[in-house]
Amino acid sequence: MKHVLSVADLSRERVFQLFTLAADLKQRWKAGRRAMALAGRSLALIFEKQSLRTRVTFEVGIVQLGGRAVYLSGSEIGLGTRESVPDVARNLSRWVDGIAARVYSHATVEGLARHATVPVINGLSDFEHPCQALADYFTLWERGVDVSSMRLAWIGDGNNVCHSVILAGALVGASMVVACPPGYEPNPGVVSTARKLGGQLEIIHDPKDAATGADVLYTDVWVSMGQEAEREQRREAFSRYQLNDTLVGFAKPSALVMHCLPAHRGEEITDRVVDGPQSIVLEQSENRLHAQKAVIFQLLGGSLDDA
Ligand code: CP
Ligand code: NVA
Repeated sequence: MKHVLSVADLSRERVFQLFTLAADLKQRWKAGRRAMALAGRSLALIFEKQSLRTRVTFEVGIVQLGGRAVYLSGSEIGLGTRESVPDVARNLSRWVDGIAARVYSHATVEGLARHATVPVINGLSDFEHPCQALADYFTLWERGVDVSSMRLAWIGDGNNVCHSVILAGALVGASMVVACPPGYEPNPGVVSTARKLGGQLEIIHDPKDAATGADVLYTDVWVSMGQEAEREQRREAFSRYQLNDTLVGFAKPSALVMHCLPAHRGEEITDRVVDGPQSIVLEQSENRLHAQKAVIFQLLGGSLDDA
């Protein structure tokens, strides 16, 4: 595991190893252990787009492992304008031990990885959000959900988070159904990679059919960062794809509701559902920290003796 740009950079074994490590690090932290596993190490955080969870969890995550983070906004460093992506990657590699980047174009994070001599982690691109999907399946696994026999229904846009949830679902053996409006399906390359990895995946258009009998219902915003110009068209296209009480009623009574956040309440999800008893959105959010600590720990070569 050199870089984590896509969930497809991981194997099934690696994913479960990361879950075990994340659980271990979480338990140690909650027991009051103060880790020095990454003492003296640093992680550069490049953010071209807004963030709450990703920035805080990477920054706090490396600090909890004894290291430190250097936050760089895209505009501050002029990524691709003031200085080329390869030159930024080459320079940062001389000072820091890893780079986490949130970028508009997936090609940017690939460019960083190609030219960096330190590990690069995708903190969300227009194509994938691998750390989100790792934290999500870790959250289910930690709750004792049998991720290899569950049926996960994705309701809404076939977007970056959907791609990573599909690929991670294929690795852990989940059965998945995506219900999206025509024209908003997940990328066909992602769908075929997931199927090659053994993933059971259906792409349909009826949200009720997707929700029926589901163990997990997952949704995300209708308008992702960078798509603001399509806002009106998207709101119209997605109006039937709201996760509300009626749709949740088609799933198993024990079904869990997931959302990567931020939520656009009243659009893709109602207040009652996101704040309701079936929602695990804050567990997902909390576990971004622990799952990413596991990723940083492995990539930067931490030792459990110091954790
Ligand atoms: N889910 C997630 O990545 O949140 P942020 O955009 O706030 O980082
Ligand atoms: N699909 C959303 C996820 C935000 C965490 C976006 O890209 O804006």
